[in-house]
This record gives sequence, structure tokens and C-alpha cells, in this order.
Amino acid sequence: MLRQAPLHLSIMIIVLVAATATACTTGSAPRMVGTGDVVADRQRVMKLQGEQMTDIQNKIKADNIEGIATNAEVLAITSMQITSLFPEGSLTDKSNAKPEIWVRWGEFEATAKNKDQKAVADVLKDYGRATCVSCHDTFRKPLPRS
Ligand code: HEC
Repeated sequence: MLRQAPLHLSIMIIVLVAATATACTTGSAPRMVGTGDVVADRQRVMKLQGEQMTDIQNKIKADNIEGIATNAEVLAITSMQITSLFPEGSLTDKSNAKPEIWVRWGEFEATAKNKDQKAVADVLKDYGRATCVSCHDTFRKPLPRS
């Protein structure tokens, strides 16, 4: 599965991580998406992130490294939304979020920042592995449909 990362790929990783980190340090951005249903909103944002990860993996396999930039951009922008999409008390029967999120909010926030900054770099390092799993393991119930 793993192969030696060519130089331009390594440079790309640095650029992407820097871009993502910058996006994350600008603090809690106002929510850009909003249907009034915060659970549906965050599930949509999460699906969007999932699609970016799939896209990135496919582009790496196709040696389209330059094409990854747009996916990284979407990941960076959507990552800024994560914590604002989990207001206290936003658990419904449609949500797979665990109540632990609000008990361990500091940890959740830190995970949102760290994991997403690292997500793109990790997927480039080992594109067979999903990196978003560690937050899901702790803060999300197993999805009924998967
Ligand atoms: C900080 C924690 C955290 C991080 C980081 C995170 N997720 Fe999630 N994710 C959640 C939680 C919590 C839910 C459940 C939301 C709900 O159902 O209310 C979820 C749900 C999802 C879902 C299911 C959406 C649905 O329709 O039910 C997908 C797909 C998903 N995440 C993909 C990703 C991907 C891909 C990444 C990495 C780029 C990622 N997530 C990063 C916490 C996180």
C-alpha cells in the first residue's frame, strides 16, 4: 500500500498542513451553513469531509497531486465549522453524537483542531487509513447503517 513519497508530494504536505493550521487558528468562525437543523447540518458537513477524503485518496492513486489542493481547502473551511455545529443540548434521535461531547468539551474541541489539521497530512502519509476515526471512536455512536 505505502510507497515512497516523491519530493513534490512532501512539499505539498507541508503547504497543505500550513494552510489548514492557519484556517484553524483564526478561531471560531461564524457558521456558514444553516438549515436551522443543526444535526442535519453537521451530518452534511461531515459527509462533505468524507467525500474530500475519498477524493484525495483517488487523486493520489491517479498521481494527481496538484488536484488535492481544492479538497484540502474544503477540509480546512469545513473543519472551522465543526465545534460550532455542536451546541449544547443538540442531541436528537437522528443524531449519532455521544453525550460525552459536552461532558468532555475541552477534549472534543482539541480533537476538532488537532485531528483536522493532521487529517490531510495523515491521509497523504498513509492513504489507506481513515484518520477521522479517533474522534468518531470517542464521540460518535457506531452508525446504524454501516
Ligand atoms: C471532533 C470530532 C470529529 C472529527 C474530527 C470528525 N468527526 Fe465526523 N462525526 C463526529 C460526530 C460527533 C458525528 C455524529 C454527528 C451526529 O450524528 O450528530 C460525526 C459524523 C460523521 C459522519 C456521518 C454523517 C451522517 O450523515 O450521519 C461522517 C460521514 C463523518 N463524520 C466523516 C468524518 C470525516 C471524513 C472526518 C475527517 C475529515 C471527520 N468526520 C472528522 C465527530 C467528528
